[in-house]
Amino acid sequence: MKKQTIHPAKSLNGGIELPGDKSISHRYGMLAGIAEGTSELRHFSAAADCHSTLGCMRALGADVKIGKDVVIVTGHGPRGLRASRKPLDAGNSGTTMRLLAGILAGQDFSVTLTGDASLQRRPMKRIVNPLRQMGAEIQAREDQFAPLVIRGAKLHAITYEMPMASAQVKSAVLLAGLFADALTTVVEPARTRDHTELALEEFGAQIEHHGLTTTVHGLDVANGHGALTARALDIPGDISSAVFFIAAASLFPESSLLIHNVGLNPTRTAILDVFLSMGASIKTPSLRTSHGEIVGDLAIKGAALKGGIIKGDTIPLVIDELPMLAALGPFTEEGIEIRDAAELRVKESDRIAALAENLRRMGAHVEERPDGLRVEGRKAGKIHGAEIEPHGDHRIAMAFAVAGLAAEGKTIIRDADCAGVSFPTFYEELDRLAQR
Ligand code: S3P
Repeated sequence: MKKQTIHPAKSLNGGIELPGDKSISHRYGMLAGIAEGTSELRHFSAAADCHSTLGCMRALGADVKIGKDVVIVTGHGPRGLRASRKPLDAGNSGTTMRLLAGILAGQDFSVTLTGDASLQRRPMKRIVNPLRQMGAEIQAREDQFAPLVIRGAKLHAITYEMPMASAQVKSAVLLAGLFADALTTVVEPARTRDHTELALEEFGAQIEHHGLTTTVHGLDVANGHGALTARALDIPGDISSAVFFIAAASLFPESSLLIHNVGLNPTRTAILDVFLSMGASIKTPSLRTSHGEIVGDLAIKGAALKGGIIKGDTIPLVIDELPMLAALGPFTEEGIEIRDAAELRVKESDRIAALAENLRRMGAHVEERPDGLRVEGRKAGKIHGAEIEPHGDHRIAMAFAVAGLAAEGKTIIRDADCAGVSFPTFYEELDRLAQR
């Protein structure tokens, strides 16, 4: 339970390469584990969450070797997993639990999937419902929480109209669809990240994608070999981690920061549009495509941020970046308002409550609402350092470490190690770039 002290900074300068994208790492790790042969996953995320995924795949019989910046996974094909005697531990990772549930739904064994106290409080009915419709037997605590006991089955293809915009739910159904007897279709109410679709294509699954509708062919009914092919893949840096550095650099007029090799998939870059609309200076000098994903560098300079309102269909596209945006609120001209984001209450913590609590600790003026919050801007008064309680949530800890750079006096982040869930070297990197 390390406490981290953050001292005020004058600017952020230099260059940084970020850990591999967490969402992509999870998907490659899982698909490599059910592919035939050996996959090489370069720049695999160092996040504890992604290592939870690797631990589960290993417990299910995939061979996983973890090297420096590369993970080698040998899978034995889609039917090559075996039951784990011990419960599978997804740790703090909702993505591990929800996506893996889709794969486990199609196996011919039964397995228990659990996680830490936070994950055991998060809603699982959203994946239990469609996977039951497909034929899996799933028991859940109070019929909605982990631990989940999943008895796999021969799955039926379904068309699933998703009640909420969630990439994890979409992905769970598509992954289960690999094991179904025909074509499985998911219809989303709004656009969410499409890494599962792109990764499935990379590993050789048959998938079609039109607007908000995505269809995957069951492996046994797909044309050809009915298997997935092992791959050598490069994982770009995580834009959701980049956001903490974009925010930190934007806070100071003298900043000049280059973030190398960031994943710029259009279903993830809405956050850059939000920053640009607020007056941030972000340039993408070079773009390239890698395994269906767009990758590039980001050049950020300090700028006076205007603030604004974030709502509607933008919310699912920036859901992980909202803690950082809210924590920037008091340093903007007009403040920040977040609407239509009740999902934030069922993330690693109740992020709306955690944001309101910690912003107030720093002297900000905040109105907390059921589906968001309004944070008053610069005119409402000065922001001072404070002791921050992240409630075990990595993104809350990192967001307030950044806010601490621009506050008066020092800020202390309690339980600072929770940042390791997505970014184990976050504080060292922030300290290296911060000029004082
Ligand atoms: C993720 C989807 C999002 C996001 C999470 C990662 C993914 O969750 O918040 O951090 O990798 O699919 P939801 O699907 O619950 O919105």
